[in-house]
Amino acid sequence: MTGPVTNAIGEVLIDETTISRRVAELGAQITAEYHGEPLVALAVLKGSFVFAADLLRVIDTPLAVEFIGLRSYIGGRTSTSGVVEITNDVKYPLGGHHVLVVEDIVDTGLTLDYLVKNLATRNPLSIKIAALLHKPSRTIKPIQIDYLGFEIPDEFVIGYGLDYDGRYRNLPHIAVLKPNDAQLGLFPSR
Ligand code: PRP
Repeated sequence: MTGPVTNAIGEVLIDETTISRRVAELGAQITAEYHGEPLVALAVLKGSFVFAADLLRVIDTPLAVEFIGLRSYIGGRTSTSGVVEITNDVKYPLGGHHVLVVEDIVDTGLTLDYLVKNLATRNPLSIKIAALLHKPSRTIKPIQIDYLGFEIPDEFVIGYGLDYDGRYRNLPHIAVLKPNDAQLGLFPSR
């Protein structure tokens, strides 16, 4: 055995060390911004769970963690439906707290456009966004990302929380799904 089988999936776009360094920088920025303020980190399920787990552990100020389930794509994540649905809502009152939304990727921006408008009706002190990845070339709704990990090209990415058909979220790095991967039978056809 030379390593986990999943390391053979896709081409590494951002390796673990690079992710870890950038997450630490974002954590330091967020700590400086919110130090001592009432803060709720709101992780958007499912994709952000790995980023959120790493990011929140390098934020050095007391915070509450909440989760919201959103779905913006139908079937395999290769095209947007433009429809956003809340599949699991926040149970914690957001009034009187700053909200830091934690996302894995901003693609068209439709999901966060919907979410930010929805959260604003709950009277938080502020709403800011931390996103690991952004694909600016796919923007439909421009989103202000306050803490951004990396801009990436318009490639289908998996790993570090991001899936293809529900799998590969557990890759420790960000990889690009190439058409060859599907041709080799590594990915199911849809
Ligand atoms: C992904 C990602 C964002 C959204 C971004 O979620 O986690 O929430 O797509 O896309 P947009 O900017 O085009 O709206 P997805 O619906 O794939 O669900 P998942 O997080 O459960 O994988």
